[in-house]
Amino acid sequence: MTVTTQLNVRPSGAVLGADVEGVDLSQPLSAEAFDAILQAWHSHLVLRFRGQRLDDPALIAFSRRFGTLDLAPITVTGEREIPEFPEINVISNVLVDGRAIGSLGSYEAEWHTDMSYNDLPPMMSCLYSLEVPDSGGNTGFLNMYEAYETLPSDLRQVVDTHRCKHDSSRNSAGELRKGARDLKDPREVPGALHPLARTHPATGRKAVFLGRRRNAYIPGLPLDESEAVLDRLWAHALQPRFQWEQVWRVGDVVLWDNRCVMHRRDAFSASARRIMHRTQVQGDRPF
Ligand code: OGA
Ligand code: MN
Repeated sequence: MTVTTQLNVRPSGAVLGADVEGVDLSQPLSAEAFDAILQAWHSHLVLRFRGQRLDDPALIAFSRRFGTLDLAPITVTGEREIPEFPEINVISNVLVDGRAIGSLGSYEAEWHTDMSYNDLPPMMSCLYSLEVPDSGGNTGFLNMYEAYETLPSDLRQVVDTHRCKHDSSRNSAGELRKGARDLKDPREVPGALHPLARTHPATGRKAVFLGRRRNAYIPGLPLDESEAVLDRLWAHALQPRFQWEQVWRVGDVVLWDNRCVMHRRDAFSASARRIMHRTQVQGDRPF
């Protein structure tokens, strides 16, 4: 039997998310097997591979099948979290000698799209879990195609004809970036402009494209109107019927499509340990 005939895709039952079974990601994938994974990804938006055992080179090799990898950010120490593997970003609350070994701590991460404040936001993010807390730290995902397709017609009219500015002055924790000014008026903050309705380059489907709510602004609209439209859009998109939640086990590889998915994370106990290794694949300019 070839790898492809063993590969099984089991949809979550929600409007996004599927388990891919029968594949060992530590081994090189045939073109056929990878094609099947890519197809499943385009259909289900978030894929989960349970029970994997990957070292960093294997995680990098698998992620690279999807495209060119971004390098992890440089930390305050001036190094990357794993200097030998600059493609790996550590997401963790664990402290070693009083210093965090990774990003995001143990707090809640609100709904967002990764790095959409850039002109070329990443298309894929991938997390591999090495240690997980007994409870908390679940990751939620939203299907933004569904959000688009179910918009009331007046909102659909706005998103089809407007762009949104994605604030680049603050990081995912809402903290001001180094050198950024603390501007209160969303019209003034710096950031990338992207269409509110984004067409997925592979599937041709349209999705609502939002980054973060704070300081978002729809150029061309008076501020109060922009705020009102964004509030309605966010309220529409965050409906539970568009969501699926990942409850982590050690050995899960979860990858999501930032072009049509938003995500969030629950807080968890600061005394618990959670360690993920993460990769990110470069994307194109949204259209
Ligand atoms: C991320 C992220 C959520 C999590 O890695 O981009 O938002 O569950 N992580 O750690
Ligand atoms: Mn994220």
